[in-house]
Amino acid sequence: MLTIKKIISKKIEEGAAAAFPGSSLAASDIFGMLEYPPDATKGDIALPCFKLSRALRRPPVQIAATLAGALKAGEPGSPVASVEAVNGYLNFKISDEYLANRVLPEVLERREKYGAPRGYEGMRIVLDYSSPNVAKPFHIGHLGTTVIGHSLRRLFEFAGCRCYSINHLGDWGTQFGKQIVAFRLWGSREEVEEKEIDGLVALYVKFHEQAEKAPGLEDMAREEFRKLEAKDPENMALWSWFVEISLREYERTYRQLGIEFDSYTGESFYFDKTQPLIDDLREKGLLKFDDGASIVDLESYGMPPCLILKRDGSTIYPTRDIAAALYRKEKYNFDRCIYVTSAGQSLHFRQWFKVVELMGYDWADKLIHVPYGTVSINGEKLATRTGNVILLKDLFALAIEKVAAIIDEKSPDIKNREETAEAVGVGAVVFYYLSSSRMRDINFVLEEALSFDGNTGPYVQYTYARTCSVLEKAGRIDDCDFVISAPEESEVLKVLCRFGECTEAALRDYEPFYVTRFILDLAAAYNRFYHNCRILSEEDPAKRTTRIRLTEAVNVVLGRAFELICLKKMTKI
Ligand code: ARG
Repeated sequence: MLTIKKIISKKIEEGAAAAFPGSSLAASDIFGMLEYPPDATKGDIALPCFKLSRALRRPPVQIAATLAGALKAGEPGSPVASVEAVNGYLNFKISDEYLANRVLPEVLERREKYGAPRGYEGMRIVLDYSSPNVAKPFHIGHLGTTVIGHSLRRLFEFAGCRCYSINHLGDWGTQFGKQIVAFRLWGSREEVEEKEIDGLVALYVKFHEQAEKAPGLEDMAREEFRKLEAKDPENMALWSWFVEISLREYERTYRQLGIEFDSYTGESFYFDKTQPLIDDLREKGLLKFDDGASIVDLESYGMPPCLILKRDGSTIYPTRDIAAALYRKEKYNFDRCIYVTSAGQSLHFRQWFKVVELMGYDWADKLIHVPYGTVSINGEKLATRTGNVILLKDLFALAIEKVAAIIDEKSPDIKNREETAEAVGVGAVVFYYLSSSRMRDINFVLEEALSFDGNTGPYVQYTYARTCSVLEKAGRIDDCDFVISAPEESEVLKVLCRFGECTEAALRDYEPFYVTRFILDLAAAYNRFYHNCRILSEEDPAKRTTRIRLTEAVNVVLGRAFELICLKKMTKI
């Protein structure tokens, strides 16, 4: 079924063709002009007609009046109950009959499939996200790539795509030389086993402190990394142990978030697959020597050169990214390969995407970088090298602890206290993060994120649990024709029927935050309905059934939307 906006766009297209002969307005253009007015007295959907003045060469007031006359509203089955021209706006009201007889049955019939984005079926999507640097802190800066990346995966899957999520671990590079030196000088196996990644990070921090005083350490590190690249068995063994220790922590965090990867092929996987790439670049005449290093000159594209080989001949981050893209194209034959990283890496991606294009690969435009802004906590930015960072696991632990305290107060006899506290605590952090558009810089205020009555994760989780409890108490009900008898019911349905548009827009703009906003709208509409209308105690059987089934529709769609942004569904809080 078409979404309401699409139906209305089509109607306007037809109306305009009849009212303004010779004009050609396409429904697809009109679609983008339609708005949901913040003030519902102006209608449920509005067309600001000044957007058509140019095309139709008439003042907006006249366009609105003519179109209002040309569009037939209120026919049986039509989603539009009325069309009105007000101050150059064309205001549409959605009909209750349509909401009750079309929207509600459709949600109940399609259930978890309701609202799936269209136009992506069968596409093959590679998503590269999270990708932390091994033996370095997994800090709140990684929250963005992890949750945006995984939400995009869920959205693409919802759209019927085959997705491959790849954790491109930062598990290769000179820092491993440093790590090896630091471990041999100051580390012990027992300590690292016990402190896990924190032990490795402490060694890394110590290396940098000491290297300031003893520059010889840097040379030692380079030498150890060279040995590692030559597959020296001892260094290889240390390196794979570092990776294993780090993965232990990442996997705990991923488990808390309920996310999984199809592959952990990180940078190390590509270091010995770069030679064919280098040969290819050379053959194509793209590689240039520059002060001993090998680069691809990008000056005519307004970018600094893309570094391919360092002076000592070793490969580097962009080299491995290009090799990885070639490998992935071969292995997955992707329709899109999406990279989610902080905006700080935008130039890096633009540079090497250009190199792929210059190499003559026509799929270079299928490589997409999805950047996001910075995160600070209570106004404080992160500093990576000094070890003075807020780790993701600590943030989660704090959130879980605080939620557990609230649960003990609110529902002391809850059965799965730990599980609930974890789902709600972690969910609160995720929800807060995904509450603004990805390029916005975010300042994390934990108290705000954890509140049960703001526009927060706990609030929407609570709403979901509320729908579960209504449904549980309702038990089995007999079906009947739906009747709408309260404006609150219509409002819930009007939000529900926007779900498909929301998921499509979220994929179009790579913005999981649209889903978060939808969840808040749906939760608000449902709570207004819940507070103002009797549900289980309603005496009229048709009204009671409609309200219970409406609750069921909210339960299904809210739950689906939760999955899209990695929130767990708790039936009780
Ligand atoms: N490891 C990198 C970092 O933490 C992110 C890697 C992103 N993916 C990629 N293919 N470059 O900054």
